[in-house]
Amino acid sequence: MLSFRKITPFYFNLCFLLLINRNVMKEFVFQSIPKLIFGENSLDLLIQEIKSLQAKQAFFICDPVIKTLSFWDKITKKLEHEGFKYCVFDNIISDPGYEIADDAINAAFDTKWDIIIGIGGGSALDIAKVVSVGLVTGKPCKELMNKIELIKDGLPLILIPTTAGTGSEVTHISILSDNEEQTKNGLVSSKLYADVAILDPIITLSLPPEVTAFSGLDAIIHALEALTSRLANPLTDMLALEALRILYENIWDAFNDGQNKEARTQMLYGSMLAGKAFANSSVGAIHAFAYPIGAEYHIPHGLANSIMLASVLRFNLSAAPEKYAMAARAIGIDTIGITNIAAAEILLAKLDKLIDDLKINRFLRFYGVSKSDIPRLAEKVMKITRLLNSNPQKITLKDAESLYLEAL
Ligand SMILES: [Fe+2]
Repeated sequence: MLSFRKITPFYFNLCFLLLINRNVMKEFVFQSIPKLIFGENSLDLLIQEIKSLQAKQAFFICDPVIKTLSFWDKITKKLEHEGFKYCVFDNIISDPGYEIADDAINAAFDTKWDIIIGIGGGSALDIAKVVSVGLVTGKPCKELMNKIELIKDGLPLILIPTTAGTGSEVTHISILSDNEEQTKNGLVSSKLYADVAILDPIITLSLPPEVTAFSGLDAIIHALEALTSRLANPLTDMLALEALRILYENIWDAFNDGQNKEARTQMLYGSMLAGKAFANSSVGAIHAFAYPIGAEYHIPHGLANSIMLASVLRFNLSAAPEKYAMAARAIGIDTIGITNIAAAEILLAKLDKLIDDLKINRFLRFYGVSKSDIPRLAEKVMKITRLLNSNPQKITLKDAESLYLEAL
């Protein structure tokens, strides 16, 4: 049951949303996937969904660990029992590059697969999206990155997240590492949306605490950046605020006790809401700064975001104080009688504490970055215009250097 404590910030934020949007409601477009199945043991519906997409030959994409988990046996036995043909590409690594996407497309090319199923963390789901369109379009991944207009409608696609963080199951974005340039790029096209996402919290129970922390913080940052994005709209605001509330309230419980089903369920739900929000309003500079350090130093994505959170958020404060105050209320901070900036400062302190509580070392120097690396990293950030353009505060090369220095 909802308590008064939970309801009050919700209505406070609703009033602010109404005030903000009353006279300035602009037209917006909101897109998402056509079907989402959420709930305990919803993975049992996979076969039914394959059938309803009229598919008989499934090409799975996952990392090697997935095949060792108990639900995998259950899936494959059912497929065999029902007479489906399937093949598994299990070479997914974290931060996969264009090469892995091309390897997966090549592995699938000679057989007439009629459905692609991505199961795993964001890396597996992102590659599954690229394979779905790559098999139809017949172009190498790098060419698609440069000419998204080449992308044709892909094969039917089902995405099944095993982590609560990336929200990739509901986005039309694939993040791929450019190993030559040592950075990451986003392939963005509405043709990358899945036909069905199946979100079963039971399969997230086995996640280790470190992955729970990194992926949960990634989701929190998705919500925060979606809310403060220049491209935000009333619908993405609503999704982002609800995501923030749920994720902040449950991340510690999911981290502290991985078998806590309720916390796992809430985290999976919250990360999906945040995914729907940022798919439509974009993430911002925290993600932009995280990409080069993730690609060069192999810092996991959620960790890289957590490292950059404080310096970028502080830098952004003056550009979107109302939005940060709304975020503060969403996580239960009492903002009555204080300025928006003061509310945002408390929000930042709470998030800093959360990162510390989750036992994360949030300084770049611990991961091999030194002062002399900063000009190079800052130059790379400035090329990630897709994300810098949606950030509430404009960022120059000099700012980028200062922000990395602050996070050092
Ligand atoms: Fe992210």
